[in-house]
Amino acid sequence: MKTIVKKADEESINEACRLIKNGDIVAVPTETVYGIAANAFDGEAIKKIFTAKGRPQDNPLIVHISDMDMLKDVVKSVPNDAYTLAEAFWPGPLTMIMPKGDKVAKETCAGLDSVGVRMPSNPVAHEIIARSGLPFAAPSANISGRPSPTNAADVFFDMDGRLPLIIDGGECFAGVESTVVSLLGENPIILRPGYITKEDMQSVLNKEVLLSAAITEGVKEGDKVLSPGMKYKHYAPNAQVYIVDGDFDAFKAYVCAKKDSGVFCLCFDGEEKDLPVECVTYGKKERADEQAHNLFTALRRLDEKKAAVVYARCPEKTGIGLAVYNRLIRAAAFRVIKV
Ligand code: TXA
Ligand code: MG
Repeated sequence: MKTIVKKADEESINEACRLIKNGDIVAVPTETVYGIAANAFDGEAIKKIFTAKGRPQDNPLIVHISDMDMLKDVVKSVPNDAYTLAEAFWPGPLTMIMPKGDKVAKETCAGLDSVGVRMPSNPVAHEIIARSGLPFAAPSANISGRPSPTNAADVFFDMDGRLPLIIDGGECFAGVESTVVSLLGENPIILRPGYITKEDMQSVLNKEVLLSAAITEGVKEGDKVLSPGMKYKHYAPNAQVYIVDGDFDAFKAYVCAKKDSGVFCLCFDGEEKDLPVECVTYGKKERADEQAHNLFTALRRLDEKKAAVVYARCPEKTGIGLAVYNRLIRAAAFRVIKV
């Protein structure tokens, strides 16, 4: 299959709508990361997403809608908290897990009776949903297990030959995937941290929002898995990544003792001049939003440079930093060295 990249415009957006209506798949920009979109109601179309990504069959997809009317087509009922959160954070990078509506294909939700829904704020994604009149299901547009793509070139690298069209809408704004929050119980539970934080949600809900332990610890043998995506290896570059958790002096001392060919550092802006090996930077130390924006690109650049071992500076584990830490610790296969 030939894969074509087209800049987002009237014509390419209409073509994306045609593909989706015809049961095909197309890569589209969102404000978080690029996604591979297909009609959420069409099980056969959804299967093409799983094939293109090499995604495990038991990992459900997120359904994207363009307005609140569409929500009623995809869920069975709307929890009260969902209205409050939608009012505050939609359109935007927040996915809410709710009871699944009958029209949504079982393939979309990997057989679960719940569905993850979000309303993207990216104008291209919005336009494709609104014009086609169809909610699309979309996972991140990477080969399963690789870092999510935040620009069209990175999508092409993974998806060339696997889908017909990539809509190029420029760099993604957030750079990490949406916050996933389950609204199936009394208190909301964050299953995947993202740009919308626990504190953001608590401030509008006036109740405690819980954090799933799997966010920072991974899933252990025998654990009940709330979000199937959390149990798989994720975001991994080819290199062996280690998070080296400590202050900069301790980090530097650690790397000085380990320097060798193929050893790289993933560090904060400005630190590279004081480190003895080649570095890729991912934002200022105190700017979790910049780190979120840059992390996946930085991991891909380390692959291009043929890094064998990467020592990474540890982000803050609060606010948006928790989303960065959650992705990085998976890229590092949970290897954390305390210094
Ligand atoms: O920002 C995003 O959410 C991007 C863009 C393209 O919208 N999409 C994305 O999709 O990150 P994906 O498939 O890479 O991640 C979806 C996550 C997975 O961890 C999956 O297990 C979880 O959401 N998920 C989806 N539906 C679920 C459900 N019904 N219950 C629990 N977890 C669910
Ligand atoms: Mg993904």
